[in-house]
Amino acid sequence: MPVQRIRNFSIIAHVDHGKSTLADRLLELTGAIARNAGQHQVLDSLQVERERGITVKAQTASIFHRHKGQLYLLNLIDTPGHVDFSNEVSRSLAACDGVVLLVDACHGVQAQTVANYHLAKQRQLAVVPVLNKIDIKHANPDQVCQDMKLLFGIDPNEVLRVSAKLGTGVSEVLERVIETIPPPQVQRESDFRALIFDSWFDKYRGALNLIYVLNGKLEQNQDIQSLATKKVYPVKSISVLRPAECPVPGLSAGQVGLIACNMRNSKESIVGDTIHLKNQAASAAGSYSPQQPIVFAGVFPADQSKHVALRSAIDKMILNDSAVTVKVDSSPALGQGWRLGFLGLLHMEVFCQRLEQEHGAEPIITAPSVTYRLVLSNPKMIRQQGRDTMDISNAALFPEPHCIKEYYEPLVLGTIITPTDYVGQVIGLCVERRGLQQSSVNIDETRILMKYVLPLSEIILDFHDRLKSMSSGYASFSYEDHGYHLSHLVRLDIHLNGKPVEELCRIVHVSKATSVARQMVLKLRELIPKQMVQIAIQACIGSKVLARETIKAYRKDVTAKLYGGDVTRRMKLLKQQAEGKKKMRMFANIRVPHETFINVLKR
Ligand code: GTP
Repeated sequence: MPVQRIRNFSIIAHVDHGKSTLADRLLELTGAIARNAGQHQVLDSLQVERERGITVKAQTASIFHRHKGQLYLLNLIDTPGHVDFSNEVSRSLAACDGVVLLVDACHGVQAQTVANYHLAKQRQLAVVPVLNKIDIKHANPDQVCQDMKLLFGIDPNEVLRVSAKLGTGVSEVLERVIETIPPPQVQRESDFRALIFDSWFDKYRGALNLIYVLNGKLEQNQDIQSLATKKVYPVKSISVLRPAECPVPGLSAGQVGLIACNMRNSKESIVGDTIHLKNQAASAAGSYSPQQPIVFAGVFPADQSKHVALRSAIDKMILNDSAVTVKVDSSPALGQGWRLGFLGLLHMEVFCQRLEQEHGAEPIITAPSVTYRLVLSNPKMIRQQGRDTMDISNAALFPEPHCIKEYYEPLVLGTIITPTDYVGQVIGLCVERRGLQQSSVNIDETRILMKYVLPLSEIILDFHDRLKSMSSGYASFSYEDHGYHLSHLVRLDIHLNGKPVEELCRIVHVSKATSVARQMVLKLRELIPKQMVQIAIQACIGSKVLARETIKAYRKDVTAKLYGGDVTRRMKLLKQQAEGKKKMRMFANIRVPHETFINVLKR
């Protein structure tokens, strides 16, 4: 296929604006999947995506379409809409020349629409603006077009109007993609060079790399070399995704395809790396670098004998999610484990759910935290000797207050778009979360765009959910890094029957210490099952107790409902009870269910 007849594009939008539905219609229209096959959202293939109804991984499909008598190859990438997965969007854009910017005709432009639009503009990509869901009765396409004009300078006459659900206007999207998105700027005559922009693990073939070929041509059995590691690999198989894998003899510049070449793990297959032919000098193919994680949590095997298996599962997952970082960690109660960095709480939950569903691992996850920066008054007194500052995300390592001169916490610049009816509540929430308003602009008569500087620790847990529920789902939020600022922090310890549980301790702002303490002990009273002994739950700063709750002693007799003496039935119930207990961890002789560490933070 000549380069002039190739188009590479992503579909970008806010959550639930219909990206995956539009991608399905495009696949149907071009014959890549059967029409009305009863399948929904073919590109959302992960179990976690189907269960949660959201896209978490960008997915690629190569489709063919005839336009004015010529056959075109379109490489389409369906991206996630949630802010926690924006790394997937940046990664996908590195392999594109244009985007379809999809906006819901009912909900209009939302915070993630703005963020994704700017990502595309930074990369100077062509934008095809599309309004979706025009079939819905109360849709207001004219107003949304006006908003797009105000916020992005897009001419309302250029905006396509479609219903991805019914298929209305979808063929015009393909026509517009071909006409307005430029063909890839690549050179076929020069030596082979390609960007790895996604990878995942296959049980039989090792790491599979999704590549975007910038120069030259690649054929099976050629030897390729990684620019980052300098290692050489033989190309075992080449295929394109349509969206199922289709073997092809080779890939030419401008094409997107999948190669297997005996790479084994995330240290060999690096997303953002460049590959070239063996022993040929090459420069980096793309300017993609993964986003930095902002939320950190300890991950430990429930049983130390599963340490190696968990390490291998984490490694395979990281291959597929390059934004996650790993460092070795250890805890007196939980043993050897790792400290993982994520882009948000949903990202962390999805990662852990995928660890369980796709790799059968059952890890214990400790309370997530952001990275605080401390200026030390006496660096010699603590472990990191000789250094004036210390970055800390593990509350258990928080030094004694007399060793700390200054505390700094990370900030974000948040963009909130809300209907004017809810402005009061939204401002109230931002003030409660220690936010400072920077600006406020009326998008139109009914909606307002506000910018707030907020401490990152205040938004990672439930800010988004609260915002959604208080605005009946209409307000939206996205954020970007805004550096560090001076703060006053304390370490809040949780004691169970007088013994501190390191895994539950948290770093909190001093103004929030009492309310967080109260909330945590109440939540723990709910989450920890009654046991043979009475349990005292205390939240303390140093020796000062801020809140206390008690769980009364109780023995659950699982066999109480049994009549008569059927021994096998009795044994079965006791066995089930023992299995359940295995899933708990012992702290101060108290059994704590292993999901408690995350659940205790949810309000
Ligand atoms: P994320 O990937 O999670 O960001 O979502 P998405 O943007 O891919 O949205 P998705 O395609 O999952 O659609 C979200 C919901 O909107 C689904 O319930 C779709 O059935 C519905 N939907 C999508 N397009 C249309 C449309 O044109 N009309 C109507 N009425 N509903 C639509």
